[in-house]
Amino acid sequence: MNREIAPGIHWIYEAGSDRTEQFELAERKPDWYESGREAYVPQCAYLVEGDNETLLFDTLSPASTDQILDAIDELVGTRGLDYLVVSHPDVPHAGNTYAILEEHSETTLVAPAYGNDHELYKLDESLQVAEGDSIDLGNRVAEFHEATFLDAPVSVWMTEQKTETLFPVDWMGFPHLDEESLLFVDELDGTFDASRLVEFHGRVLFWYQYVDVEKTNAEIDNLIEKFDPEIIAPAHGLVIRENASEYMELMKDVTQTIDNQGRIGTLG
Ligand SMILES: [Fe+2]
Repeated sequence: MNREIAPGIHWIYEAGSDRTEQFELAERKPDWYESGREAYVPQCAYLVEGDNETLLFDTLSPASTDQILDAIDELVGTRGLDYLVVSHPDVPHAGNTYAILEEHSETTLVAPAYGNDHELYKLDESLQVAEGDSIDLGNRVAEFHEATFLDAPVSVWMTEQKTETLFPVDWMGFPHLDEESLLFVDELDGTFDASRLVEFHGRVLFWYQYVDVEKTNAEIDNLIEKFDPEIIAPAHGLVIRENASEYMELMKDVTQTIDNQGRIGTLG
């Protein structure tokens, strides 16, 4: 399933991991969840079309090889895929790298310059990018950034300058109901509940429970100042396209809540 989030930027969505049982079994169900409904933490890839060149950010999981190959065909057609950027070598993000490169011999593989396991992950032949590096796609530029919050040393974040979109990879993920798939956060019913962000960051980014709240939240302030994005396109959440900085601000409550609660499996 795909959706254009801004002219030339396409959201390629996979349901990812099924969290229904976790929320069904929770003693106290989070406010956004209703019994009997399916809930997912999604897996997202993004395709950016420039006037001259095209770029795919992440690959979905190996459960969706056909889906990502079809999405590339549908979205770039005969133009071809010029760049495949792998945010980090985790299977759900990078698992279709070789399937894509096999189908698209025209594609340049782009990997984070950070970390030192490139050979292990067979990324040593890639174009490696770090803070400040950019790829000009024609009428738009993809710029790369050191990942502030990450789960692997070989990691990179990206922004797209024209639409001011931030791609923060594993940061700012959250679960959603089945019927909320591919909705923008501003299209959800009711108020967006920070407990969704707490659930993801307390469980998936497990190191969150050990962080220094003050330092982490000062870092979030730095990110808001540095990026001040119009759109946030996370790898494991729905796209935020209104008041994006306010959601980054909300991440400070997430840090505080996780610190207060200690390790959590889920809210409940
Ligand atoms: Fe991830």
